[in-house]
Amino acid sequence: MAPVEDTAGAGIVAIGAYAPQHRMHNDEWAQYVDTSDVWIYPRTGIKTRHIAAAGESTAMVAARAGSLCLEAAGMDPADLRWVLVSTDTPEMWNPATACFVQAELGARRAVALDLTGGCSGFVAGLGLAEARARLREPVLLIGCEVLSQAMDWSDRSTAVLFGDGAGAALVMPREPGKPAFEIVNIYARTDGRDAGILGKPYGGTKNPLTPELVRDGHHHRIVMHGPYVFKNAVTKMADAALSSLEEAGLTLSDVDLVVPHQANQRIIDAVADRLKIPREKVFSNVEEYANTGSASIGIALAEAIEAGLIRPGQVVLTVAFGSGFSWAASVWRAAGVPPVRAELNRGAVLTKGVGT
Ligand SMILES: CC(C)(COP(=O)(O)OP(=O)(O)OC[C@H]1O[C@@H](n2cnc3c(N)ncnc32)[C@H](O)[C@@H]1OP(=O)(O)O)[C@@H](O)C(=O)NCCC(=O)NCCS
Repeated sequence: MAPVEDTAGAGIVAIGAYAPQHRMHNDEWAQYVDTSDVWIYPRTGIKTRHIAAAGESTAMVAARAGSLCLEAAGMDPADLRWVLVSTDTPEMWNPATACFVQAELGARRAVALDLTGGCSGFVAGLGLAEARARLREPVLLIGCEVLSQAMDWSDRSTAVLFGDGAGAALVMPREPGKPAFEIVNIYARTDGRDAGILGKPYGGTKNPLTPELVRDGHHHRIVMHGPYVFKNAVTKMADAALSSLEEAGLTLSDVDLVVPHQANQRIIDAVADRLKIPREKVFSNVEEYANTGSASIGIALAEAIEAGLIRPGQVVLTVAFGSGFSWAASVWRAAGVPPVRAELNRGAVLTKGVGT
């Protein structure tokens, strides 16, 4: 490791984002389960989701976003010291997904580690990335999910909510004059007493898979108490937002744009209502991508920057909630706007999902 040397702070100096080519409309879900756009859209704000192609694994999706991020930064992968991948849909049990990503990128001097932090893993991971970047160790942080492979395609109450994709951020020590989102504060919390409410309980050491469990589809079972998750997501995202701003010495009136985790439009709206933030200050793209777990903030950030919604000098607040329960928020000041490379296949032709 490099010698310990603190700097003026750390920032996000480039963003990369990737979503698979296959776009699946709500209507297509009717082939798999008893559902419809009429049920899904009003309850979630979701119209389409991107679904990884057969053989397109988490590490491949993550590496694509990571590679785009490094291209945007003009950075040699060999200069990275850390590759952190936040995912709940890993390449395999072991080794870490980040190892495959590190190899694919050619980041040969980097330590590769995974974070399993649910949908808030990217924001919480930013705290770790920021701490290392302050020590002059460049970090590539990637949030990535291939939830289409993890979910139960016969369970309408969970499957219609999710999509696949990846978002990446290069976190470096701040350099005067170089565009970056200066990380002003990161606030993250977990309450493991609710660990059983949302997650994928089968296939680990607690509930090892047996032929009988696989036959009954437990290998794909996602447990979720929807209304309880909804209520907690709203209150905890609002609390995290206020706590992070308070620690940063700012208030909601200082915030120019909120980039929330894209779980569900109703959750985003309820958080905005609770905080009394006007809708035009809250970014949303859940209609296009659905809930992409820890990838959602990176993808949203890429689109918000590309749409010109973040300008130099502005304050950005990001906030997320997920399994654990875990929740996190972060306040950034735009010391310039970092470069973005995104391959989000937004206009791709709607195609049939791969299913299971
Ligand atoms: C999942 C969620 C959309 C359900 O919305 P809801 O308003 O609570 O659902 P409702 O109570 O109106 O409807 C439930 C009914 O719809 C049915 N239903 C569930 N999914 C359905 C679908 N895709 N299509 C049609 N019907 C469906 C249920 O079987 C249930 O039927 P029943 O009343 O006959 O038992 C909502 O609880 C939610 O968004 N929760 C948070 C989920 C989330 O974002 N998790 C990730 C956080 S990171």
